[in-house]
Amino acid sequence: MLNNLFTWLDERLGLTTMYEVILDRKVPKVNWWFTLGSASAILFILQAVTGMFLTIYYVPSPDHAYDSIQYIMNDVSFGWLIRGIHHWGASLMVIIVFIHMLRTFFLAAYKYPREFTWLTGVILLISTLGMGFTGYLLPWNQRAYWATTVGTEIAGTAPLIGPFIVSVLRGGPELSAVTLTRFFSVHIWFLPAIIGALIGIHIYMVIKLGIAGVPDKEEA
Ligand code: HEM
Repeated sequence: MLNNLFTWLDERLGLTTMYEVILDRKVPKVNWWFTLGSASAILFILQAVTGMFLTIYYVPSPDHAYDSIQYIMNDVSFGWLIRGIHHWGASLMVIIVFIHMLRTFFLAAYKYPREFTWLTGVILLISTLGMGFTGYLLPWNQRAYWATTVGTEIAGTAPLIGPFIVSVLRGGPELSAVTLTRFFSVHIWFLPAIIGALIGIHIYMVIKLGIAGVPDKEEA
């Protein structure tokens, strides 16, 4: 019965071909450092799923943001778990993406023909940091408020365009309800859309070009 269903779907969707192209690829001799790109992708999915659950109760307004998080932590079933995974997963993702970048850098995987994979990776790293920056404000507690005040202040020290960047980030001269909704929207829509699309392109490049592997002393 299940077999028949699979054959039916396979004939129409090409599942076996998809499996062969995406997962059953030839890879050179690799090690555990090569698993960190996939780990980053899985962490992104974990963050997306737990984040979706958090938005069921989270309210992005100065009057309710803090209380809604307290409610998630104390009153929602498993709310503490979902928020805990999202909170620690965020730090873990930054660390794993960073180590993944170091591995591709030290093994020179950014060289021809993988420059574009590296380029999409750079934007992925910046976007992942952006997720951390925008997410940090959302609990709307003292720490979040002042950290974002300082963070946006630092962006403001850029020559010439500094004041413009601050007003775009804050939506005014100071942190306000506008800043909170702005950060929320960037955190749940803009950056995840960018990251999702870029992961697709990044992995397409990896499949198309194959894994670079550990450089060979003889070849150098
Ligand atoms: C959300 C972030 C990221 C995800 C999900 C991701 C995912 C992946 C995956 C699954 C691979 C295949 C094998 C491996 O793990 O090494 C890969 C390879 C690669 N990644 Fe990333 N990556 C991310 C960020 C980055 C960053 C920040 C850089 C560098 C700036 C980067 C540069 C590369 C390069 C150059 C390769 C090719 C490696 C090779 O061919 O040996 N990636 N990435």
